[in-house]
Amino acid sequence: MKIILMGPPGAGKGTQAEVLVQKLSIPHISTGDMFRAAIKNQTALGVKAKEYMDAGGLVPDEVTIGIVEERLSQPDCLAGFLLDGFPRTVTQADALAKILHQLGLKLDGVVNIEVDQEKLIARLTGRRVCRQCGATYHVLFNPPTQEGVCDKCGGELYQRSDDSEATARNRLAVYNQQTEPLIAYYRTEGLLVEINGDQPIEQVLDDILASLRNSL
Ligand code: AP5
Ligand code: MG
Ligand code: ZN
Repeated sequence: MKIILMGPPGAGKGTQAEVLVQKLSIPHISTGDMFRAAIKNQTALGVKAKEYMDAGGLVPDEVTIGIVEERLSQPDCLAGFLLDGFPRTVTQADALAKILHQLGLKLDGVVNIEVDQEKLIARLTGRRVCRQCGATYHVLFNPPTQEGVCDKCGGELYQRSDDSEATARNRLAVYNQQTEPLIAYYRTEGLLVEINGDQPIEQVLDDILASLRNSL
């Protein structure tokens, strides 16, 4: 299955992707995770991405499109993939259509997770992520059994540097301006599946799986 997971910062894309890619046996392609890995490894890409990410802005389209094209061209994507956090601009969506056409692939659906904007700031500022395995938690909404320690692998939990309130607000503003128009874009293409993200994590997952079964 070839799907895009869309939604504003904090909507639950990463949380849902963790389980979905296991259930569907497809690779998880998160541009945010790719940039964070590049920053950690201090590559040229990481140095470039960091200044945009720290400000809550978008990494330039040509850079982002390049890394996604490279990833989608790998053989494990032929049978399916889950894109998380890409595309984020109309330019990226147009480029994705071209890349998939060249690879002879077709999208099955675009899942848009919807959550009211006021609730997103609390989700972002309370998020904690495992340094070792990348699992996502929330200090109130999805706490680990032991504070600061990952349930899955025992790794240390940390707070993303772009999850300060000020940067989170910038990210939401950038989403509204540059990414929200993609909802209409994919609705026009007949690919959009809308999911209420303001429900318990397991219910959101059930709704996504049911809608993928029904509409695709
Ligand atoms: P990225 O890492 O993609 O961040 P984002 O889009 O801002 O999304 P988040 O990862 O913050 O949220 P999420 O939807 O994954 O939520 P999560 O599941 O963690 O991108 C980071 C940066 O990289 C961008 O700002 C940009 O600079 C750059 N970048 C990335 N892609 C790019 C692109 N294509 N083009 C240009 N630049 C790009 O959940 C959030 C919290 O809520 C967690 O604590 C979780 O436990 C909790 N939670 C989840 N579900 C629920 C629920 N149902 N109820 C209660 N709490 C919940
Ligand atoms: Mg994420
Ligand atoms: Zn872990």
